[in-house]
Amino acid sequence: MSHAEDHAGTRRDFLYYATAGAGAVAGGAAVWTLVDQMNPSADVQALSSIFVDISGVETGTQLTVKWRGKPVFIRRRTQEEIDNARAVSMSDLVDTDARNANGQPGAEATDENRAMDEAGEWLVMMGVCTHLGCVPLGDGAGDFGGWFCPCHGSHYDTSGRIRRGPAPENLPVPVAAFTDDTTIQLG
Ligand code: FES
Repeated sequence: MSHAEDHAGTRRDFLYYATAGAGAVAGGAAVWTLVDQMNPSADVQALSSIFVDISGVETGTQLTVKWRGKPVFIRRRTQEEIDNARAVSMSDLVDTDARNANGQPGAEATDENRAMDEAGEWLVMMGVCTHLGCVPLGDGAGDFGGWFCPCHGSHYDTSGRIRRGPAPENLPVPVAAFTDDTTIQLG
């Protein structure tokens, strides 16, 4: 397979994920254009760490990018989504572990322990159902207004925590950090 064909395949994969996650295709495409333009050694490095431009992500929408072969959801939440996530008590959760690679291991799954910023506007997590690995649907899907995995019916809340269905764990938050106001580094 040529280099060009390889990238074409990657883009098709991304579009699938973006559709499945109702993501912002334009923003994600910009990321891949950037990767495409890199030289081979930088391309390899991009597999472990990527920079995502989030300047075009509107409140109440989600950008889906592919990172290390898997989709990552970057959601800019509405105040209502944040409030709903923060009103949930630990006793209502299936999985009380924050599962945030950026926090303390074993920290409680409060929304504050999962969001990227103090106000809770940005939520970044792997778009892979913790049951058997399907890509959950976003944009308020499911009974808890967050994400829904139609494969076997797992419902995640607006903080990406599993609330009902066979998935055993919250959607994990990967290593992520703001490098400036409009850029998030994954990895
Ligand atoms: S893979 Fe998501 S519910 Fe089974």
